[in-house]
Amino acid sequence: MDQPLGGGATAVARAHSNIALVKYWGKRDAALNTPAVGSISVTLAALYTDTRVTFRPDLSGDEFWLDGSRSDATRVSRVLDLVRRRAATDRYAVVSSTNNFPTGAGLASSASGFAALAVAAAGASGLTLADRELSILARHGSGSAARSIFGGFAEMHAGVAADGSDAYAEQLLEPADWPLSVAVAITERGEKSINSTIGMGESATTSPFYQAWQDSAADDLAEMRAAIAARDFARLGELSEYNCLKLHALMLSTRPALIYWNAATVAAMHVVRGLRADGVPAYFTIDAGPQVKVLCLPADSAAVRGALALVPGVHEVRMSALGPGAHRLE
Ligand code: ADP
Ligand code: DP6
Ligand code: CO
Repeated sequence: MDQPLGGGATAVARAHSNIALVKYWGKRDAALNTPAVGSISVTLAALYTDTRVTFRPDLSGDEFWLDGSRSDATRVSRVLDLVRRRAATDRYAVVSSTNNFPTGAGLASSASGFAALAVAAAGASGLTLADRELSILARHGSGSAARSIFGGFAEMHAGVAADGSDAYAEQLLEPADWPLSVAVAITERGEKSINSTIGMGESATTSPFYQAWQDSAADDLAEMRAAIAARDFARLGELSEYNCLKLHALMLSTRPALIYWNAATVAAMHVVRGLRADGVPAYFTIDAGPQVKVLCLPADSAAVRGALALVPGVHEVRMSALGPGAHRLE
């Protein structure tokens, strides 16, 4: 089988990173990459991936280039295999991608990376997929990527179906429905030593807190949905910090421990709490890495940026509005 592909065989897509306010950690089914818990996130305008996919008849395997270097294509091929099956082609692809922020460092490069790949690969193969299908496709690359198909606020459903068909994300709000700001304090540009996939597997098998993490997810999701519907920023922020610290308690109780924080991470958390004591509503959240993301109102973004920039060990503070969903550039 080598049928000519529709859509010109090349497509370029951009997808933005996202930050979870109620977090995913742990898998229901590792092969399908379905999450053990649902999650809610905001998509970040300032951090994004651009990915070009070209299906070619002359290749004997997929080729993956990330930020100019030839990289392992295993995870990329998992997504491309699904696209090939749906498009009824056996052509391999050249995938060339750039992240405009550090990769594998806790800034959700797997989220923007696999959302961009899903949109570009579907486009290059001539498939027209609904957002829900794109979200499922992106999930096979990385769970958090299912949310980056959507702009603004998104919720990922853990689902119950054995085939993973109900484990997808949906949009809750457009960016303009509730324009928040996020300050991203970068304390380390290097890659984390234990990636998210491996880290969450270890938490599930070794932490005595893992069951409680799963059991308490539904309450956090319901409260976050209510805070978003009511545009209650203090409630959203307080719950984001709580859920983040609960995740890090799970990570710390993993054997061997997952300590994703450095000294600047902890210092930045205290600065955010100090801002609040001074009357500035600002709330932190931290993923699997040492970077601190601070949620604030647009009117306070200069004050928040200034305070974070003074923290010893913070190399850079990137300010972001809420961003759009994944989309084609070409
Ligand atoms: P992060 O915190 O950056 O999401 P992860 O450990 O979850 O870190 O994922 C990092 C992995 O995601 C990389 O090792 C790579 O396999 C994949 N990845 C990162 N950027 C891209 C990209 N642009 N396209 C495809 N895969 C990517
Ligand atoms: C802490 O989506 O990177 O950022 O599905 O194994 O690729 P894989 O994991 P990934 O995990 C994200 C974990 C998190 C929380 C979140 O984004 O919800
Ligand atoms: Co990731």
